[in-house]
Amino acid sequence: NGVPPARITLDELKRHSTHEDAWTALGGKVYNISPYLRYHPGGVKELMRCAGRDGTKLFNLTHVWVNYDRMLSNCFVGYLVPRNS
Ligand code: HEM
Repeated sequence: NGVPPARITLDELKRHSTHEDAWTALGGKVYNISPYLRYHPGGVKELMRCAGRDGTKLFNLTHVWVNYDRMLSNCFVGYLVPRNS
């Protein structure tokens, strides 16, 4: 029932790196962080550092205790997949 989640390559992720269209990957899941930008306690500039790329390491360096999956459940876009799958 319903459509399967999207499968997103790193090349596709890279195309979403502007404030208006910012995606990041965390733990293999891709999120649209644009709606969350103005609510981020660490500020827009810090959050934008993970836009258009895999933000897992950066995220874990700053606040590994934050439950991003719960916070961004409405912003889930799909799964990050290897180039040719
Ligand atoms: C604080 C969420 C990405 C830097 C926070 C807090 C949350 C949050 C909930 C408050 C945590 C607390 O007080 O215990 C998120 C989410 C992210 C994200 C959902 C990804 C989608 C990032 C990135 C950076 C960053 C990539 C840095 C490169 C910070 C900093 C604070 C902070 C410096 C501390 C702000 C302060 O207390 O003054 N973030 N964050 N965050 N975040 Fe993020």
